[in-house]
Amino acid sequence: MAVTPGALTPGTPQGWSRRTFLTRLGATGGATAMYGAMDALGLVPSPANAETVEFVPPRPGDLPAGATGRRRVAILGAGTAGLTVAYELGKAGYDCRVLEARDRPGGRALTIRRGDRHTDTDGVTQVSGYDAGQYFNAGPSRIPSHHLTIDYCKELGVAIEPMVNANAQGLYYHENTPTVDYGPLASTSVTHRQAKADWYGYVSELLAKAVSQGALDDVLTADDAERLVEFAQSLGGLSGGRYVGNNRRGYTEAPGAGDQPGVVDAPPPPLSTVLQSRFGERFAFEFGFDQAMMMWQPVGGMDRISAALADAVGRARISYNAWVTDISNTSTGVRVTYRQGSDVRFLDADYCVATITPMVLRTISSNFSTETKEALAVPVGANTGRMGIQFRRRFWEEDSSIFGGVTHTNLDVSGIYYPSYGYFGRKGVVVGYYSGAYTNLTVPDRITRALDQGVKIHGNAYRDEYENAFSVAWPKNPYTLGAWVQWPGGRGAAYTHLLQPDGNVYFAGDHLSYYTAWQNGAFLSARKVVMDLHARAVATA
Ligand code: ALA
Repeated sequence: MAVTPGALTPGTPQGWSRRTFLTRLGATGGATAMYGAMDALGLVPSPANAETVEFVPPRPGDLPAGATGRRRVAILGAGTAGLTVAYELGKAGYDCRVLEARDRPGGRALTIRRGDRHTDTDGVTQVSGYDAGQYFNAGPSRIPSHHLTIDYCKELGVAIEPMVNANAQGLYYHENTPTVDYGPLASTSVTHRQAKADWYGYVSELLAKAVSQGALDDVLTADDAERLVEFAQSLGGLSGGRYVGNNRRGYTEAPGAGDQPGVVDAPPPPLSTVLQSRFGERFAFEFGFDQAMMMWQPVGGMDRISAALADAVGRARISYNAWVTDISNTSTGVRVTYRQGSDVRFLDADYCVATITPMVLRTISSNFSTETKEALAVPVGANTGRMGIQFRRRFWEEDSSIFGGVTHTNLDVSGIYYPSYGYFGRKGVVVGYYSGAYTNLTVPDRITRALDQGVKIHGNAYRDEYENAFSVAWPKNPYTLGAWVQWPGGRGAAYTHLLQPDGNVYFAGDHLSYYTAWQNGAFLSARKVVMDLHARAVATA
């Protein structure tokens, strides 16, 4: 979809640019709301606007044996994109070296486990106190079946397991705001199954009525009208064309053996109450092309993928704790200057692939062209973060039968994500928020606030069973300065410019794909650069 820079978008509050709208939504509505809006605005991919280029992997025999001056590649960043470049070029015999500022691979594919330590740009350090075996994916946490990420898991032997992204037993919770009254269901936890039964039920009843009363006669044949009514009957679980509630909502007395048929939880709230709740506006999340079940996660944490990639690339090719301080095109290739401890070192190569986020890359000195520097100045780091809260008891499972999945809410936590691993265990780590609203709170205030919000939904267990927490505020993460990249006004000239190399320096990362904020984007962008660089190396060998 073409996006005109600065243009207002239908559906955004009047007078707000896309950027203002998304920034405010990120702060108040959380990442899921922001991402959902980006999706609705066409700023994230859909099969209709994504361009698929088939990956032709470089092969060992492509470069002539004598082409020694075309094989050395300096890769900046050992995140998903950087490691993929090293992995794919390495297969074809390129001599890759990866520089990584952190002490581990993975970039934003960050899994927090016991003892992990992190210091933010404001100097605040957290150390994870999780029990051994507990973990929290602070960055990517879900993989759709159709993403390249799955292919790489298969190729690298990374075991995957279902990540429950939609759960009928998950909750919706809306609290009144100064501008919206959610009616009798305000501040009430309602299961997805119940909300869906009621919304589908009433909407289907209305549809069936509209058809029966001839309101759609100008667009429906008599046969199609009949088919549509049959569909409405089944979608809504109607009785004689009316929605009166049914066992999709659940039971007040569970069915049992013998003479115990159970008591269905009925009647449903009146139509107006259901509409006022606005829960229906949350259903679309799980219809998303990239959010629909089945969703997956690596067994043991998302960083298992980057760990496997790093192993495949080879330990000797990756330098950790290496802070890049300058990137310069030279007459023969590239010179990268970096700091490792108190040492200043140089890495000379024929090519460079910079996968550092633009928010960080633009702070590093370089002899890039003015156009490249201007392009790197454009993107904005998305404001979101997450907190993994360890509870001493899995009360969401034991008390509410919620095994994985998400509670969606208009509270500033945006969502509560239940772990899709460790079922029946004693403890568990719940993602207590996925939101930009906590970025500027102190770490203790983040915990207090997240627990206060969770208590509204889960009651006192949420506070009583609390053990410890670790939070990540991506804009304050010195290695990324943002959760992902936003292109104000959409992918414009800056995006297009960075798809081309600056001299011998290429740029890669999910921000240079139509899969922003997905590892799939990093894999795709890496593959594109691998093909571009390889074609050039072969042509000039
Ligand atoms: N890909 C990110 C998510 O699923 C935005 O939350």
